[in-house]
Amino acid sequence: MSNAIGLERNIVLIGFMGSGKTTVGTRLARELGREFIDIDHEIESVSGMTVREMFRRFGETRFRSEEQLATARLAGRRQLVISTGGGWVLKDENVRLLKPVALLVWLTADPETIYERVMRKKSNRPLLKNIDSSAQLAEMMAGRKEYYEKAADISIDTGCCSLRQVVHSIAYYLQYGRLPEPL
Ligand code: S3P
Repeated sequence: MSNAIGLERNIVLIGFMGSGKTTVGTRLARELGREFIDIDHEIESVSGMTVREMFRRFGETRFRSEEQLATARLAGRRQLVISTGGGWVLKDENVRLLKPVALLVWLTADPETIYERVMRKKSNRPLLKNIDSSAQLAEMMAGRKEYYEKAADISIDTGCCSLRQVVHSIAYYLQYGRLPEPL
């Protein structure tokens, strides 16, 4: 992992579905006084379709190309907090576009925690359609791990601590270039 820091840099939250990207991003942006952008919401407002509808009508390929277009539109901007979709890291081009101007923060949690979180809103996530157990979910997570690992500058576990602590850790890193000591 490289050590990409700097106060001007965007903060890009990556991680599996249900890792807390939108929740953490919203709060972090508020605390830092920055604009918050959720790439899935950008895609929805540009296309006039929900992510779910896009998958259903046009498939994942169309969604991935919209995701890349939305990412490209953000590359020239600074001081944003950006939340990505769980599969955003799968396309090298997305990472290549934002990495030079961002701190990439990988939010993690164990499969059981993620399973509990995502099952509540499973219908909004087309790729979870055939997932019925935390073991299946763990398999999917394992297949993506190397992408998150490769893209991320730092990783933060969201399963072990409060939203406040997660947000504080990222803000601290942005300012001091290291994570705070554990409590
Ligand atoms: C996806 C995650 C979703 C959304 C789409 C695909 C994925 O975002 O982008 O359904 O490939 O993991 P969240 O991670 O916000 O659920």
